[in-house]
Amino acid sequence: DRVIKAALLGLGTVGTGVYKVLKSQEEEMSAKVGCKVEITRILVRNIEKAAAKVKDPSVLTNSWESILEDPEIEIVIELIGGINPAREYILQALNAGKHVVTANKDLIAVHGHELLDAAHAKKVDFLFEAAVAGGIPIIRPLKQCLAGNHMTEVMGIVNGTTNFILTKMSQEGMEFKDALALATELGYAEADPTADIEGLDAGRKVAILASVAFNSRVVFNDVYTEGIAKITSKDIHYAKEMGRAIKLLGVARNTEDGIEAYVCPMLIPSTHPLATVNDSYNAVFVHGDAVEDAMFFGRGAGELPTASAVVGDVFDVVRNILAGCSGRIGCTCYKQIPVKKMEDTHNR
Ligand code: NDP
Ligand code: HSE
Repeated sequence: DRVIKAALLGLGTVGTGVYKVLKSQEEEMSAKVGCKVEITRILVRNIEKAAAKVKDPSVLTNSWESILEDPEIEIVIELIGGINPAREYILQALNAGKHVVTANKDLIAVHGHELLDAAHAKKVDFLFEAAVAGGIPIIRPLKQCLAGNHMTEVMGIVNGTTNFILTKMSQEGMEFKDALALATELGYAEADPTADIEGLDAGRKVAILASVAFNSRVVFNDVYTEGIAKITSKDIHYAKEMGRAIKLLGVARNTEDGIEAYVCPMLIPSTHPLATVNDSYNAVFVHGDAVEDAMFFGRGAGELPTASAVVGDVFDVVRNILAGCSGRIGCTCYKQIPVKKMEDTHNR
């Protein structure tokens, strides 16, 4: 049986989840994708701390070069997060002809097209399903299954931490800071949770969704963001009295005069389907001219749900390697649609 070797960068919440899911798939994966995937290196900062998380600690390394320069490693799974050194590592891996899977929305929302171009040039795969809405399949459906549509809207709840906080405050009367601490403990929050509560993480996801759905380029700076830091228990109480729920929504619209992209807390009727999306769940609605409306729902954050999306990407990379069609959907064609400035979208 052929074995495809992969390296994991980072063994935090998602990295550990990916390691566990790949281990749990050991028996099934050959029948599913045609060969085995073995993690032969894991890049960590602290080997001692990471040793308890893996079966064979000899795979742990502090050296990126030992991964980059190993010709047997065909797939790099980047889960360290942030812009640097993740960007350098990914670019170097792609330029070395390795396939890359990542969950790093911070990076893709700013440098996505640079990375896609690098992958395209080398005819390798660069996949990032887990970067938006955790375990929910949304990037691949937009890129492939819904490609026959002119998409005009993508919107929904795309941050698990803030949805968890709002749910706990509303249903259990929990204080904001206690709910945030619990979300962090459960592995939902970003390394710096300011990104969650200020709407930045959702803004990055909106930029990625808009780019993919509208086949254009929308970057994080194009997205107006407002978070939930100012929402109090009183706000939630009054909203409930009015038969409303407060939800942090991310919206991207492809209008006749450009793309609107924003994130802000909104009052929605408690009978609306989004009002019933609670805890760390996310939901994304899309509207296209042929399909009309479609909705995607599931766990938007956390160790195993996110690992589910990452491993799905890894399996796709493996299928492409075996079929000799790597870089298959890495087409970098797009049409730049103007993005409306914040002041324009503010009067929506
Ligand atoms: P964590 O902070 O839990 O894990 C990141 C890990 O990477 C840490 O163990 C950290 O080490 C390690 N690390 C950081 N920099 C380096 C480096 N230079 N070299 C080696 N190791 C490094 O984050 P998550 O697992 O939650 O997130 C990983 C990525 O997945 C991020 O891009 C995040 O945005 C994304 N993501 C996360 C989701 C979630 O639900 N948590 C969902 C979807 C995407 P140390 O422990 O020493 O700090
Ligand atoms: N911090 C992110 C969230 C992780 O809470 O949604 C998933 O992208």
